[in-house]
Amino acid sequence: MKIAVFSTKPYDKAFLTEVNKKHKHELSFFEARLTLETVRLANGFDCVCAFVNDSLAAEVLSILSGGGTRLIALRSAGFNHVNLKTAQDLGLSIARVPAYSPHAVAEHALALILALNRKIHRAFNRVREANFALDGLMGFDIHGKTIGVIGTGKIGQAFIEIVSGFGGKILAYDPYPNGALKAQLSYVDLAELFAKSTIISLHCPLTPETHHIINKSSLAQMQDGTMLINTSRGALVDTTAVINALKSGKLGHLGLDVYEEEGDLFFEDLSNKVIQDDVFTRLLTFPNVIITGHQGFFTQEALLNIAETTLANVTAFESGQGEWFEVKYES
Ligand code: NAI
Repeated sequence: MKIAVFSTKPYDKAFLTEVNKKHKHELSFFEARLTLETVRLANGFDCVCAFVNDSLAAEVLSILSGGGTRLIALRSAGFNHVNLKTAQDLGLSIARVPAYSPHAVAEHALALILALNRKIHRAFNRVREANFALDGLMGFDIHGKTIGVIGTGKIGQAFIEIVSGFGGKILAYDPYPNGALKAQLSYVDLAELFAKSTIISLHCPLTPETHHIINKSSLAQMQDGTMLINTSRGALVDTTAVINALKSGKLGHLGLDVYEEEGDLFFEDLSNKVIQDDVFTRLLTFPNVIITGHQGFFTQEALLNIAETTLANVTAFESGQGEWFEVKYES
């Protein structure tokens, strides 16, 4: 199939080109994000391959469909950025990569927890300046603490398997509990999870129900000094409420790999530009906040799996043979 690959970075090109030796699709790589302004680049392509910050809003999908596109092959697990209803109405098929490495994201969440708790980001800078003072670097034993996990699917499960090793208690909330985990944790309601957890990690998808699941009211239910980790989707968290909670000490640590308005920031080198997002820049000023730019998925294993599943989806769609991971609109 003729595939227009949007938001291409050098690593995407390298992995997709290598894996495509087997699939033999016709790949065209575009560095641009897919938006209303760039969508015409896809004119005449049967398939559009998109990533998390590409726009697949109704208007974009209409233009794609009018230009002959039949398949959107997402290089992501999340599909909250696709207007599925419009896709269905237009007869556009959507494929995704449901699991490429839950371990990659789970391990990144752990990296944020350990770095925040033991202030590795600050210690690194101090030692480089020959400042070996420890004042301000004190952490806490995770052993014996309660960790709250919201969403116990593939990534939540991988995360729970890792943090079980700390020897604390794990509380979880998920409307669809994961039977494989029942021995390791207690499923509780959100109010109990917020009230009892020292560390809270988000591993649920972004849906209308989970939008701003962390807000002024949920933050008020937490213990003072709670650590919040979000490696799922930015809009799970009301950023303004979180900034107020950091200022009051309600939140003691914040680790983010995703941000509500990340579309205009992440995956680009903006080091020579003035960032216009004042909410984001306020977050950068806190000593107890670590932000990474949506890199949870970014391991060799995950990139290889993404390329393999993405192109296998396209091949199965085109040939009508074999399984592919379709996302359908559910009313
Ligand atoms: P999954 O589909 O295996 O698991 C999601 C879990 O969330 C399911 O068990 C589901 O029942 C649960 N859930 C649904 N609604 C919920 C609610 N209202 N409250 C609590 N739980 C709810 O998905 P997976 O693979 O574990 O991924 C989770 C999320 O991680 C993705 O939706 C995506 O947003 C994010 N992600 C982030 C990446 C990164 O690079 N930072 C990479 C890949 C995924």
